[in-house]
Amino acid sequence: MDGAAASVSSFSNSMTPPLPPPASGTSSSAVEQRTKTTVSHHYFGEESTANSHSLRVDVIENMEEDYGMFVWPCSIILAEYIWQQRSRFSGKNVIELGAGTSLPGLVAAKVGAEVILTDDLHKPEVLENMRRICSINDLSCKIIGLTWGEWDAPLFELRPHIILGADVFYDSTDFDNLFATITFLLQSSEECVFITTYHNRSGHHLIEFLIEKWGLKCSKLMDGFAFMPWHKASSIQGNIQLVEIVLDDTKPL
Ligand SMILES: C[S@@+](CC[C@H](N)C(=O)[O-])C[C@H]1O[C@@H](n2cnc3c(N)ncnc32)[C@H](O)[C@@H]1O
Repeated sequence: MDGAAASVSSFSNSMTPPLPPPASGTSSSAVEQRTKTTVSHHYFGEESTANSHSLRVDVIENMEEDYGMFVWPCSIILAEYIWQQRSRFSGKNVIELGAGTSLPGLVAAKVGAEVILTDDLHKPEVLENMRRICSINDLSCKIIGLTWGEWDAPLFELRPHIILGADVFYDSTDFDNLFATITFLLQSSEECVFITTYHNRSGHHLIEFLIEKWGLKCSKLMDGFAFMPWHKASSIQGNIQLVEIVLDDTKPL
């Protein structure tokens, strides 16, 4: 891929994502000009600043690579939600879909969840970056290639309590495959919940339609900015929703 601008143009016009963001609410260091690789620092707790925080997570980003190599705003919001709800995550089996730079999953792991990070099996560079990110944060999360709508052996062994997905609803041609994987995972473990943040673009009604079509229901819907510390929120743009989705047990399987 020829860089971020080129990858933006590969998305359908109806679901155009925002321009790749510089990591928001973060500072950057160790810039390698040749590869456009940066390490961004993400702070949680206290004042969530470099000088006052309870948790710091470092993320390796690459501005010339794929979508899975940036920290997207949805991921910053989902990570903050996990931090604030950390008692709910501690001790749970958590799997992140389309994790990319994996900030939500990393925060879940830091607060005591058993985390499996996944991304497209066909994107080895994204999976390799996830390994490096785990290593610099002293985490040993399991990392597996999991392509939505594909039924490879590891998928059948997963028993998550919580499924995470940040900005995974951006290409409407993938939505049915993504819902197929989500529904399969929700069925594989009792009381499992899918927690996702997504940009409320033109696909919103399609997502609502697919939730019903796949026998699911929305158990929580909130504005992603409602719980963000002001200085993190001020560097993020867009209409971002946080949604929790579960099986609709009033419908037959
Ligand atoms: C917009 S990025 C979001 C990355 C990260 N969750 C974040 O918010 O920073 C979408 C992610 O979904 C992954 N992805 C796209 N299509 C996929 C597919 N068919 N199966 C699995 N992952 C996919 C991409 O590799 C990328 O990491």
